[in-house]
Amino acid sequence: MPGLNLQGASAIVTGAGSGINLAFARALFEKGCNVLIADIGLRPEAREFVDSAAQKGGPKVVFEPTDVTDWSQLEKTFDIAKKQFGTVPDLVCPGAGIYEPPASGFWGDIDSASHYKLFDINLVHPIKMTRIAIRHMLRAKKAGTILHIASVAAETVSVITPLYQASKHGIGSFVMGMGAIEKICGIRVLGVAPGAIATPLLLEDPGVAGWVDPTKDKMLDPSVIASALVALAENVNDKYPPGTLLEVMDETEDQWRIIPVFNNPGPARTNLVSNKDSALVTIQKILKEEAE
Ligand SMILES: NC(=O)c1ccc[n+]([C@@H]2O[C@H](COP(=O)([O-])OP(=O)(O)OC[C@H]3O[C@@H](n4cnc5c(N)ncnc54)[C@H](O)[C@@H]3O)[C@@H](O)[C@H]2O)c1
Repeated sequence: MPGLNLQGASAIVTGAGSGINLAFARALFEKGCNVLIADIGLRPEAREFVDSAAQKGGPKVVFEPTDVTDWSQLEKTFDIAKKQFGTVPDLVCPGAGIYEPPASGFWGDIDSASHYKLFDINLVHPIKMTRIAIRHMLRAKKAGTILHIASVAAETVSVITPLYQASKHGIGSFVMGMGAIEKICGIRVLGVAPGAIATPLLLEDPGVAGWVDPTKDKMLDPSVIASALVALAENVNDKYPPGTLLEVMDETEDQWRIIPVFNNPGPARTNLVSNKDSALVTIQKILKEEAE
């Protein structure tokens, strides 16, 4: 099945107010694709991108303030895209996500609404967005593309970030399972599984930033993941079958690896941020206080 011609296409990318999704939005724009950025906010570099795109007069880049945990807001992004671009999006990337500093994750146990917010953002929203996208694409008779952002965490385990791991394992499994819908309705679902990427998620959260040792840890630029997402969408030479989950831990395409559904040997490197174990102290402190 041929991939998507991005020239003249339209996309919705959640979480593109920063990091990997912003890099993807830029790459799509460069390819001639209209982009709706759905995020709770825009970092200054994203604001600058939106403003400069408007001045260039090429494809449209539109920001729609969106909290992805609210399904009515997810639905609304499709209405806005239709209004702005005159068509149902050809590509949807529900990439917004958060990491898990122990104090606000499983161990801190501060969620109080009978569900985990991390799952709502990292797992539930990409699944719901996929369901909505399928409906809109089918009605418009479009064989669109839906791209997910899992993580190497989908292949590994961690007692420090257990919710994050579970959410990414979930997305990985979802992508692989959804590959089969291409035969049913022509829509392609695929995803990337990035290693450590230099974005605010890892570098700016005070509960996480100390985990990275810049002298030892290889961190890719978000533009590498954007290139991998473009490669999945364009599917040149039919390289990436639907359901592909593509591990991206190095810069060039020949180093990327399609993760097999069964008997996955796992990533070549598992200890991506050298000082992550320092968080065990926080966890021990939380548990000690609970035991008193
Ligand atoms: N940085 C890494 O090392 C890394 C590695 C593997 C996978 N990922 C994944 O890549 C994706 C992007 O992460 P990033 O590293 O670019 O992080 P980032 O923090 O730079 O960007 C995440 C974006 O998601 C948005 N977001 C968070 N909660 C939201 C909500 N409720 N509604 C709408 N938007 C919301 C944030 O505002 C932000 O703009 C995530 O799914 C993350 O899990 C990141």
